[in-house]
Amino acid sequence: MKTTVIKIDRDAPCRALLLPAAEALKEGGLVAFPTETVYGLGAVWNRPDAVRAIFEVKGRPQDNPLIVHERSVEGMKKYFAQWDEVADTLCRAFCPGPFTLIMKHRKGLCSPVTAGLDTIAVRVPEHPVSRLLIELCGEGVAAPSANISGRPSPTNAADALEDLDGKVPFIIDGGSCDYGVESSIVSWVDGKLELLRPGGISAEMIEECLAMNGIKLELTRSGAAVSGDEEMRPRAPGMKYRHYAPRAKVHVLSGADMAARLEAVKEAIYQTAGGSVSAFYISDALAELAAPYFEAAGVIPDLVLTFSEEERHQEAAKGLFAAFRTLDRLGANHIWAEEQELSEVGAAYMNRLLKAAADESRGPLKL
Ligand code: TXA
Ligand code: MG
Repeated sequence: MKTTVIKIDRDAPCRALLLPAAEALKEGGLVAFPTETVYGLGAVWNRPDAVRAIFEVKGRPQDNPLIVHERSVEGMKKYFAQWDEVADTLCRAFCPGPFTLIMKHRKGLCSPVTAGLDTIAVRVPEHPVSRLLIELCGEGVAAPSANISGRPSPTNAADALEDLDGKVPFIIDGGSCDYGVESSIVSWVDGKLELLRPGGISAEMIEECLAMNGIKLELTRSGAAVSGDEEMRPRAPGMKYRHYAPRAKVHVLSGADMAARLEAVKEAIYQTAGGSVSAFYISDALAELAAPYFEAAGVIPDLVLTFSEEERHQEAAKGLFAAFRTLDRLGANHIWAEEQELSEVGAAYMNRLLKAAADESRGPLKL
């Protein structure tokens, strides 16, 4: 199959350019498209064959359900068995945006998106291109991240093409994603509110929203550390370990302050010296301090990717998956990525980084 990349203006997407992709979706095809979080691999949610093709193309386990993307909060309601104050409050606050709600689905709803569960995940993206695509389709669009299972989620069209070239008719290129990590997933089932996967909407934001609306409810942070990822079996966090992962081995660079982090960089250079290719994903401030050491050790400048120290959590999260893929292409054997605090989107960044770094079989770094 030939894959056509449709380049489109993120902020003023042209209908005529998107129409062929919308038609392909309506006819049961798959289309990769940008959202504000990561690129999605979409199919019309109520076409079982098309949805099944998503699982096939990604190599995704059949029992891992998908998220349906809708145009509005109103549009979300038709999937669920009921709609209550908690759902309404959270969705009014965080939709459109990087927020996915899981609740019991309505009776009779039958689609492979649920993987046989009695719940369904729905979100309303805020990215203008995904919004227009859903509108042109006239139906909800089921979409996991547009990567082959286990690989880092694509956050730009080139990275989506790397995994999907020849496998889908269209990839829509709307530039780089704003968040770079997948949506926050909140489950509201049987009176229990759980954050299954941290994302752009933090646990603190959700708690504040509940409090402001006078709702006394505890939010369990089930996914705060390392669950909620691609191959996780729903409701059984931490069953598998390494995801979002590049081919290179991933390590976390930690340290309480800049001086400690610089020491950690020196240690990383020392540990991975001798034939293996080391790469870094660190703040521009740390990179500046470490520059003389990189130079002395012969670390290739292209292998030091940086994010801005300003708004560091957001910046770090935004570029993480793209950095993984870029450094893979450059042949890195080891990637050292700088730790972030667990506040705001820093929690989402650390969740993805720890998942990428985890590997039971490998244990600590030995060279
Ligand atoms: O930001 C995002 O959410 C992106 C963009 C494309 O929208 N999508 C995304 O989808 O990350 P995916 O399939 O890569 O991750 C969805 C996660 C999976 O871990 C899946 O197990 C979980 O959501 N999930 C979906 N439906 C569920 C359900 N009914 N119960 C529990 N977990 C569910
Ligand atoms: Mg995924």
